[in-house]
Parts: sequence; structure tokens; C-alpha cells
Amino acid sequence: MNFSIKNIGECRIPSPLLDRISDEGFNYISETNRIYYDIYTENQKPDKDQSFELAGPRKMIHFNPTEVRSAIVTCGGLCPGLNNVIRSIVLESYHIYGSKSILGFKYGYGGLKPDAVVKPIELSPENVRDIHKVGGTMLGSSRGGTEDMEKLVDTLEKMKINILYALGGDGTLKGAHTIAEIAMKRGLDLAVVGVPKTIDNDISYIQRSFGFESAFTKAVESISAAHVEAEGAQNGIGLVKLMGRHSGYIAAHATLAMNDVNFIFIPEVPFDMEGENGFLIHLQKRLKDRGHAVICVAEGAGQELLKKEGADVMKDASGNVMLDDIGIFMKNSISRYFKELGIEISMKYIDPSYIIRSTLANANDSIYCALLGQYAVHAAMAGKTDMVVGQWNNFFTHVPIELAISRRKKMDPNSRVWHNVLQATGQPFVMVNR
Ligand code: F6P
Repeated sequence: MNFSIKNIGECRIPSPLLDRISDEGFNYISETNRIYYDIYTENQKPDKDQSFELAGPRKMIHFNPTEVRSAIVTCGGLCPGLNNVIRSIVLESYHIYGSKSILGFKYGYGGLKPDAVVKPIELSPENVRDIHKVGGTMLGSSRGGTEDMEKLVDTLEKMKINILYALGGDGTLKGAHTIAEIAMKRGLDLAVVGVPKTIDNDISYIQRSFGFESAFTKAVESISAAHVEAEGAQNGIGLVKLMGRHSGYIAAHATLAMNDVNFIFIPEVPFDMEGENGFLIHLQKRLKDRGHAVICVAEGAGQELLKKEGADVMKDASGNVMLDDIGIFMKNSISRYFKELGIEISMKYIDPSYIIRSTLANANDSIYCALLGQYAVHAAMAGKTDMVVGQWNNFFTHVPIELAISRRKKMDPNSRVWHNVLQATGQPFVMVNR
């Protein structure tokens, strides 16, 4: 694991923060300020290489803030907090560094194509003033646009952009990494800094991506509704499907937050529907004992149960495999099962879908976004590149993009947190037939 952060050049310019904020007692960060990746004492053979560089303002920076030209792009699916991060970057650049040239590329990486129909816009404190009060992104977003990365760098070079802030998840960061590499090869004075966006919380080496907390907070409303509906009927079943393509964090955290869910299914944990230890028999037992049940299923769960022989694998513009609908499959399977047994049930199916990601950032996410934006500007002004700002053990960190995209963060079925979830539901640890 390589934790070292690249820099596009030397830092010879005193930070303007020295003038703006009293130097005395101001908490500047140096490259030797690091925190360990692994904090378990029993594993400690202190190895400074296995540690994150701390985020924060540097005394000496690379870019002259009054000359540097920055740009922001938001990519991939929408996520709470995008506008908050854009606003924070603009305000930090303008008011703290005195850097006033910031462009916003429209509709994701596609907006950097030389033939992009919608041209970038100038960003200023004026036009970002109220954007944090609405969900989505003022810049628009899109998947893909990364077919010819050289061309995107041509645009950045032509427009004399020195800093690109890329707000996005896995796919966006892969794109940002390629842009940083091409820029380095061309010898451009261009720093690329990512900000970790995804409601799925599936970026490795970052404890939480922005938007995740707001999304699962919104999802709690669906679980609450499912519980009310389930309790309000004899043999009532509330079935909730939540987003989470490969990682079940949204479902798991919404489940922990409510403590009303009796069965949870996530992509990381396989299960059987039928059979002596399958889900349906446990559901039947639960209805017999308690008269109602709440089920929460992440969209990527149980895909192996839905596979059709010889069916084409469809992918979206980001290269993600398009999933089959586990929610509807479960709904139909449950109905069929109890019908065959002659047991009457009352099932309510709730799929909040995009409602959980088009929502506003909640208060805690808003703070997180504001700070990530500030730390992204500190890093970029110091010329750091090919990195993403993150958080680890509650410290803000710099993570090499290559490391962040090296594997997807997934819920470990043997982890304490998954066991906490199972304890909250009371479901069997394993629902697979032997
Ligand atoms: O990647 C984040 C996410 O919210 C996933 O949970 C979900 O599968 C996906 O986006 C859906 O987005 P879209 O419909 O834009 O592909």
C-alpha cells in the first residue's frame, strides 16, 4: 500500500493565510504530520510508510493564489452535499486564499470535451451563495465522458487550468487519476484533487464519503413507514429496497438507526430464499411469533438468485453492471410462498429510490462537506495532485487516488459492525442451506 502523495512542484510561495490569520498558534500542517492506517495496538510495529498524510493548510504553497486558475467538475450519480462542497471550495479559494478564477464544468467529464455543447461557467461567492440550500449539483452531472481522456486534458491545457477539483465516487476518481497522470507526463502545472462523493460509502481508505449519512438518514423514513404499515395489519410485512450497488452500508446504517428491521440483505452476504434455512421459512416463523415483519434489502443483494442463463450483461455509462430488481423479486417470491401455504399476508413494498440521494445534506454532512472543501483547497494550493481528501479515525487526510480506487470498500461479514446489525435485527447469522 503506497500512501505517498505526489506534488507537481516545489512550494516556494508563503501561504496568504499567514497574513489573514495570525501565525501564532495557527495549526499549520507539515508533511511529517501523519496518522497510522492501522490503529490496533496489537498490530503496531510502527511503520511510518503505512500512514496517511494529514490534510490542512501548509505554510508554503505551490501556486500563486492570485494567478492560479481552478475548475470544479461533479460526476456520476447525484449525492447530497455536492452543492455544499462546490460552495466551500469557491468561498475558501476566494475569501481565504484570494484566488478568484474558478470555473465550473457542466455535466461531468463530458463538459471537458472539446466539443461540449454546454460551456463552463464562472463561479463566484455570488452565484454559489444559496446553492447549499438545495439538493443535486448546480453544475449538473453525468456518468461516462471518459472515452478519450487525452482530449479532456487538452481542454484543461488550452484553458490554462492549474487545479481541477473532481467531486465523485469510484468512476470519477479513476478518471481524475488518469487526468493527473496525463498532465504529469505532459509536464503541466496542473493539480488534480478529488473529493469523495457517494451515498454508497464504498470508497476504500476513507471512513465515510460525503452524502452517505444524509442518504441513510432519509432512508430511515422508509423503514419507519414500513414498520408502521407492518404493525398495522395481521401478518403485515413491510419490505423496503434501498440503493447500494455493491456495498450494503446504506441498508446497514438505516437498519441500525431504526432498530425496527427484522431481516436485512446486503450484496456482501449471500442468502437462499427457499429451503430449510432459507429466508422464507424464517419469515414464516417470525410472522407466527410476532405477527409482523420488516425487511430491508439493498439493491445489489441476492443478484445470484436472479441470474438468467445466457442473459446479456448490460452496463451503464460508468461501466457498472445494471442490476436486476431484487426488491420486486422478493416481493413476488414472498407473495407466492404464503399463497401456496394458504396463509394470508398484507405486504407493503416501499422503494424510495432516488429520493434518498436527491435530498439535502443533513447538518452533519453539511459540516463534513464544508471541511472537505476547505481541505481540498489547502491541498491543491500546495500543489498536491492525484489525491483525494478523506477522513480516517476522524482526522482529515490525503489519500493517493490509486490507493482509494485499488479496491471497493465493502461490508465485511465478519466485522463488528455487521454483527451489530445482525444483533439489531435478530435474524439468523446465516440464511444459506448447507
Ligand atoms: O452509485 C451510487 C448509486 O446511488 C447506487 O447506489 C445506485 O445503484 C446508483 O447510484 C443508481 O444511479 P443511476 O440510476 O444514476 O445509475
